[in-house]
Amino acid sequence: MRNAEANQPLYLRVASALEELIQTGALRPGERVPSIRRASRQHSVSANTVVEAYLALENRGLIEGRPKSGFFVRPRKIAQQKKAAPAFRQLRSAPVSVASLQSRIFDAARSPDVVPFGAAYPSAKVLPAEKLARITAALARSQSARSISYDMPPGNDALRRQIAKRALDAGTTLSPDEIITTCGATEALALALRAVTKPGDVVAIESPTYFGILQLLEDLRLRALEVPTDPINGLDLAALDKSLRTERVAAVVCVPNCSNPLGATMPDAAKDELATMLRKREIPLVEDDVNGELTHAAARGKVAQAFDRDGWVLLCGSYSKTLAPGYRVGWIAPGRFYERVKTLKLTTTLATPSLTQMAVAEFLANGGYDHHLRSLRGLFVDQLQRSRATVLRSFPAGTRVNNPSGGFVLWIQLPPGTSGLEIHDRALAEGISVAPGNMFSAAPRYTDCLRINCAHPRSAKLEAALAKLGSIAAQRM
Ligand SMILES: Cc1ncc(COP(=O)(O)O)c(C=O)c1O
Repeated sequence: MRNAEANQPLYLRVASALEELIQTGALRPGERVPSIRRASRQHSVSANTVVEAYLALENRGLIEGRPKSGFFVRPRKIAQQKKAAPAFRQLRSAPVSVASLQSRIFDAARSPDVVPFGAAYPSAKVLPAEKLARITAALARSQSARSISYDMPPGNDALRRQIAKRALDAGTTLSPDEIITTCGATEALALALRAVTKPGDVVAIESPTYFGILQLLEDLRLRALEVPTDPINGLDLAALDKSLRTERVAAVVCVPNCSNPLGATMPDAAKDELATMLRKREIPLVEDDVNGELTHAAARGKVAQAFDRDGWVLLCGSYSKTLAPGYRVGWIAPGRFYERVKTLKLTTTLATPSLTQMAVAEFLANGGYDHHLRSLRGLFVDQLQRSRATVLRSFPAGTRVNNPSGGFVLWIQLPPGTSGLEIHDRALAEGISVAPGNMFSAAPRYTDCLRINCAHPRSAKLEAALAKLGSIAAQRM
């Protein structure tokens, strides 16, 4: 919510958010606006408030109700004005050295014979591969020239409009003009860190954290300040606040929704506290929301960026976990660092591949993405619960396993003294890949942990491999 909106009645705030999407072109003339039910979820207001908001917009001639079909953006009589550039918005650090283990995990992921519990990506079998292939092929034929041409930053218009529209579900409003498309979230995170840090700077991160973030810190010669992270509520804000008093922190990287590897989701009040704490200190927050849409709750959590009024959050996302990891379609909304990130994008990959952006945009607009997300979430919940049950049955007594709030990975803590790395080595010799816990920290931590990917359809082979891991763990105690 922006400053000026803070004192408005609720229905006017809802109306302003929608008006912004219409003015910026994220919602175009003739397009359906979110249903009353969806909008009431998006804004956490009653259906009546949404109806009031929609009637206000209808009175202003911006939308129109159509019997039995909902509300639609009204065709414009005058040319739509393009909006002006949006007004913008006792732990110790240590060097990072994690790269070699990571490449072992990804090498194992390349082999079709290895059971893929290691790298955290969904199997193509649970993704809409055929539908995407049809869309991509049709686009390659119908728009062949465009699909092979550069699509210079900020990237595909239709895709940025779709991302802006979906941002409402995450409790925020983004204009397509605030978004730059990227080659996956990995590039978004790299651009964000390059924009706000220089070699030698300290970056505060969750602990344990996604190892790709550690690798980025290593590549950029940044020091990691690891902040304890709770498996349920995420980043420990009291610990972060305390460490900000003793260390000069250049940026914070956080995965507030459905984190990796813990599957934690920060309560919205904590996200507000985090964004406010950092804004006051003028410290950029690199927010990674790749798993936000994979919540196991009825509605997805807000992004911390929703609580940022001054552009200090660089919000990163991608469609690698929900649609197509290999399409490499991601995005960043870098707030006040927009121009810097756009320039850096040019010097890293120049442009994001055109055809896959077009295909993802089309899938989001007309491919039944919400329906797909619902079934994917259901599948992940089911597989995680079944895998948890197998772990509790097959691993040695004293093993603990988390109950993630979203995503598709399990974090297993083995009985004290058991080495995750040793189990990794033994398991790989048996054709099973797992991620040992020490990959998720720059310090020698989580050595008795393992992370298991549960985003592959359950099968007798996978079930047996998980039970086998348990017996390897039992032998190594
Ligand atoms: C938390 C997190 N961020 C970023 C990524 C990388 O995403 P992408 O494949 O879009 O680059 C991953 C992939 O595992 C992840 O788990």
